[in-house]
Amino acid sequence: SKTPVRVAVTGAAGQIGYALLFRIASGEMLGKDQPVILQLLEIPDEKAQNALKGVIMELEDCAFPLLAGVEAHSDPLQAFKDTDYALLVGARPRGPGMERADLLAANAQIFTAQGKALNAVASRNVKVLVVGNPANTNAYIAMKSAPDLPAKNFTAMLRLDHNRAASQLAAKTGTAVGDIKKLTVWGNHSPTMYADYRFATTNGKSIKDLVNDQVWNADTFLPTVGKRGAAIIAARGLSSAASAANAAIDHMRDWALGSNGEWVTMGVPSNGEYGIPAGVVFGFPVTTAGGEYKIVEGLEIDAFSQERINITLAELQGEQDGVKHLL
Ligand code: NAI
Repeated sequence: SKTPVRVAVTGAAGQIGYALLFRIASGEMLGKDQPVILQLLEIPDEKAQNALKGVIMELEDCAFPLLAGVEAHSDPLQAFKDTDYALLVGARPRGPGMERADLLAANAQIFTAQGKALNAVASRNVKVLVVGNPANTNAYIAMKSAPDLPAKNFTAMLRLDHNRAASQLAAKTGTAVGDIKKLTVWGNHSPTMYADYRFATTNGKSIKDLVNDQVWNADTFLPTVGKRGAAIIAARGLSSAASAANAAIDHMRDWALGSNGEWVTMGVPSNGEYGIPAGVVFGFPVTTAGGEYKIVEGLEIDAFSQERINITLAELQGEQDGVKHLL
């Protein structure tokens, strides 16, 4: 059988962690033949560490054949030791009266420390997925704090937006979500993201032609996908967790095992594609194979799309400017 790989998860005692760890341990992320060692990080706070102990007891009680070990940590230098995959879920949520700048600064502190720790102790091929918000900017901070690791190994989660868009389009076209291909979401994981179905097909038919309604696109579809997180908070009283964990599994599985030629959306550092300045962690259409992702190039960007891309890029550059002095 295969040698176990090490998977670090931060914020492991949080609600996404609770929906995520059991699926990683059951083999849904890296394959049903790949043993894993979970290296879990929580803040040193006693309550969080106790909650983490409880989660570990439950992981043990699942008796997952692929779970080759579980570790609890409060220090990123230990949690990230030799890790092959790092899912950075834990982040500082916006508290009452907290300004955007405070939020950025609090998270900059967390993700500089974690980037440095990855740089010092992780596998040189570590694949990093940042889930904790603001995800793109946190990924950017971690990447900048880890100069000895390849920048391309730092990614942010746009997959939940991608999956939300796919589900809305399946409902609109009356087709199965699994038949939808070539969908993408450009930009920031925030309400400014641009879910783009101009190239998408369902059962081989153009979704743009099937929908044929630009007003629905601009006034219904984009706001629905963009504000879906808020709609879930309003309904559930808690932010999306199971669907976020599911998207994290999808992102890592496709990156590790390949997308079989299909497009998926990942937030990745630009190399200048589509005029996005190099280094900006931006949602792009990618295909994945052999453990590497490749940005889909050469797509036409029409005036409406360019306007949307400019908006989400401007927001991201604003966030980046807001943390520059902290890096
Ligand atoms: P939660 O509050 O239930 O759990 C977060 C956990 O992270 C807590 O247990 C906390 O103690 C821990 N934590 C905080 N700072 C940490 C640090 N420096 N090191 C290790 N652990 C730390 O939150 P939830 O619902 O699990 O969400 C986690 C993050 O994911 C939030 O930032 C949320 O906004 C984000 N999110 C991102 C999505 C995306 O699509 N990119 C979708 C949904 C949520």
